[in-house]
Amino acid sequence: MTAVGIDAIEVRTGRLQLDLAETFAPEKGDDPEKYTKGLGLHRSSFPDAYEDIVTMGANAAHRLMERKGLEPEDIGRIDVATESAFDNSKPVSTYVAGCLEQVYDGDFHHANKGERKFACIAGTQSLDDAVNWILAGRNRGRGALVIATDTALYTRGDPGEATQGAGAVAMYITEDPDVVTLSTEQGYGSADETDFLKPNQQFPSVDGKRSIQVYLSRMREALTDFESVAGSTHPDDYEYIPFHTPYPGMVRKAALLGFRHMIRNTEIEDELASEIGRQPRREDFDSREEFDDAIRDHMDDLKETDAYREWYADAIEPTLSISSQVGNWYTGSVHLARLSALKHAAENDVDLAGKKLLVASYGSGAQAEFHAETVQAGFRDEVAACNVDEQIDARYDLTFGEYEDVHDRHNHEKSSELEPFTQPDAEFVFDGWGPMNERKYTYVE
Ligand code: CAA
Repeated sequence: MTAVGIDAIEVRTGRLQLDLAETFAPEKGDDPEKYTKGLGLHRSSFPDAYEDIVTMGANAAHRLMERKGLEPEDIGRIDVATESAFDNSKPVSTYVAGCLEQVYDGDFHHANKGERKFACIAGTQSLDDAVNWILAGRNRGRGALVIATDTALYTRGDPGEATQGAGAVAMYITEDPDVVTLSTEQGYGSADETDFLKPNQQFPSVDGKRSIQVYLSRMREALTDFESVAGSTHPDDYEYIPFHTPYPGMVRKAALLGFRHMIRNTEIEDELASEIGRQPRREDFDSREEFDDAIRDHMDDLKETDAYREWYADAIEPTLSISSQVGNWYTGSVHLARLSALKHAAENDVDLAGKKLLVASYGSGAQAEFHAETVQAGFRDEVAACNVDEQIDARYDLTFGEYEDVHDRHNHEKSSELEPFTQPDAEFVFDGWGPMNERKYTYVE
């Protein structure tokens, strides 16, 4: 069968940053380690006055097209995934195409454009749509541009405020790709949940504690479903496991559950039995409560074992590096986790070509999805060409007062002007509103 997957990845972070330990924690009267250790976040990205989901998406896509030498006619599809859209009818992909047409001679008039919505999992769903379009042979030799772009803002004072972030991930999907191919096997865990939602409002209504439980339940369901088609999973099968990362602490919880699941009835469980006993089995307990207590105790012990710690350090920790510096990018987050892993492999000379990733996506509301990816030999060059670290280091560091002004500037209910903190340089910028309340964009040399 044709191998289809991601041929190139580019990232665009918002050009401002909020330091959680130095700037946010003191204002909130919190111990900085709540953020750096508890949530696992150091800094969050924010958009400058002239940035938004369109500019970040278009700038990431433009850099990708330039790097790969692509022209508009090479692209048969532009899918944007976002949960920060400002229009219920006109998709963000049309704005992105309009931006790109300002700098290319050709146009995207024969490209299919759309917008995907299912909270953070929409980025992976768009990737899926693109892969399926190519596998179905409908692409006429062209590739698909998938853009996951979000400004993840919460109401000020909401517990989610510490997990904010803003940025875009652009991916080019083709046959015989350079970065990863996707498995046809997938597993889903999906249920009608009201953990996190935005009923025609910009900032989410969130039940934070419940959202953690829903994330874990749907992930467990999706992994079991994946195994029903792909066979049992084992920690040795996957070099890295990139998870949707609202904050690294969430992944810490999910990874422990995942490890426990994967080692059940394996030689790893046998080896650990003398140290911490075997995993509790439901049939050995009279009540659900007793079983749950035993599982909790077992997980506390498992977390401290060398086997778990080493696996976590190798397969999970490397996926969290970008996220800890930029916060939650919603639809882009799991794709940043994959990129972090690939970067880690390239920088540490890990021989990853031909090896597998297990990708765990999630969207509130709620749905989780697992699929496997096979890393391609070209991943090293692709990662080397991606300038995410440079972008992260170049961000303007906000004071708390400036952060509040930036938050207001991007609040759709307010129309607050703000002098930019940075200078646009060869990029698309937001340029005000047109007569039909449309947003306008210009390319600044
Ligand atoms: N030193 C070290 N650790 C500390 C600490 C300190 N001084 N103080 C607190 N901590 C730890 C806590 O023990 C906790 O860790 P555990 O969960 O492992 O126990 C962690 O830091 C966070 O502390 P709190 O639970 O007290 O934090 P909170 O209640 O203020 O906020 C949150 C946490 C509810 C997740 C909040 O950030 C939130 O609402 N976030 C938005 C929703 C979210 O991201 N949910 C995740 C799943 S849903 C999803 O994934 C979709 C999505 O993208 C939104």
